[in-house]
Amino acid sequence: MVEKIKIALLNLSSAIQAGKIYSKDHPSFQEFIVRAFNALHEVLSRKKELVIGIVEDELAWEGDIFFSLSQKLNALVLYLQEKNIERVVFLPDMNQEELSSFALYLIDREKRGAADAHEYLMALGVRNIRAGKIRALTTQQAVEEDIATTKKKRKNKTVRNVSQIIENMLSEEDVDYLELKFNVLNYMEDYLGSRQELVDLVSIKKKDLNTFLHMLNVSIICMYVTSKLGYSQEDVLDLGIAGLFHDIGKLAVSRRILTKPTKLEEDEFYKMKHHTTQGAEILVKYMDAVGKLPAVVAYEHHLRHDMTGYPRQTHPHKPHTASMIVSMCDVYDALAQRRSYKKDFPPKKIYNIMMEGKGTAFDQELLESFFRVLGVWPIGTIVSLSNRRIAIVRKTNEKDIFNPVVEVVHPQKWRGVIDLSEEGTKLKITKSLNPFKEGKKYLQQIESQA
Ligand SMILES: [Fe+2]
Ligand SMILES: [Fe+2]
Repeated sequence: MVEKIKIALLNLSSAIQAGKIYSKDHPSFQEFIVRAFNALHEVLSRKKELVIGIVEDELAWEGDIFFSLSQKLNALVLYLQEKNIERVVFLPDMNQEELSSFALYLIDREKRGAADAHEYLMALGVRNIRAGKIRALTTQQAVEEDIATTKKKRKNKTVRNVSQIIENMLSEEDVDYLELKFNVLNYMEDYLGSRQELVDLVSIKKKDLNTFLHMLNVSIICMYVTSKLGYSQEDVLDLGIAGLFHDIGKLAVSRRILTKPTKLEEDEFYKMKHHTTQGAEILVKYMDAVGKLPAVVAYEHHLRHDMTGYPRQTHPHKPHTASMIVSMCDVYDALAQRRSYKKDFPPKKIYNIMMEGKGTAFDQELLESFFRVLGVWPIGTIVSLSNRRIAIVRKTNEKDIFNPVVEVVHPQKWRGVIDLSEEGTKLKITKSLNPFKEGKKYLQQIESQA
């Protein structure tokens, strides 16, 4: 029973992450809801009700406090707390639609600080999930103080989580990218929370989901690479913010151009190029909140090391180091993402393409450090080896970026870890497998092993 409850809560928490990052129509949100619902349904077929409570920032059922799942359930806890909910009761007649509405209600930041979660849920037609506080707060002041404490706690927790995940990345443990994106997004939102207008990420997301995800990815790659290169935590976070906002100027570019499936015409490209100056114009207004760096980076991220690129300079100068770092992460993610007018590129090809820009598009030393820490085959890539076994990259080798440590996952009987850089290993990586296509069938095995 307790295992089923854990599965239900874990999936509900993942649904919240997916719903927050993507949208309610995204297949991952739906999939997690279905999984959570099935598990809950099974539990409720044997019980009159299931009561989940929050005890000291952790979820609990009867005498069990799920400490070991603390990090994974964080999304759920955060949003329950934000809505001032300390107790959730699931009833046997609950249907999937109700569970989905409940998850969406939790993510909806407009409906904040609800002393009346119950009323909201009823209005949404959710009758078989009851949510509320254990003790009622009587005065308005008490409610407000309670919200303020929750917010403060939430902020500290998010910062802790982002640092924890960056640490996990550095120690090359498995990283849950959905969780990472969720935490980075939350961190950024909290950090910039008082400047609602600046958090125009929501508008970007509505305008073009791909641009939004790209900005989030660039931010994460930037933080990963710079922390691996030994930058201070403050610099890492500054670069994360600069990376996040580098394309904010695309808010000013029409949706038609942003999502055009074919190559841009000259006049369209001209308009697209404006996202650099427009981005800087937006960010300059918020210098007191985020400093100068994001504006500088938004302006310079398409300038190249050899001082060509755009916007055109009357007095050409070398871009700021932060701009050059963001620019590498930007190109890397753009090549890795499937774009409508071209195919996504496998890691080795991205490496080759970017290396061609050594000394021209990119600063040679920076580019080399970039690949030294990221590897040619980044952690998590599914690869095929020269003996035709399938493996997953587990650790990069800074001294030998072509030959990381991999874990063979197929065929079953050859499972095990191999350091491809070790002398005597004649094995090489021949190619990577696209996790959405030919690599898809191995994902299950990788997950089950992790
Ligand atoms: Fe850009
Ligand atoms: Fe970009």
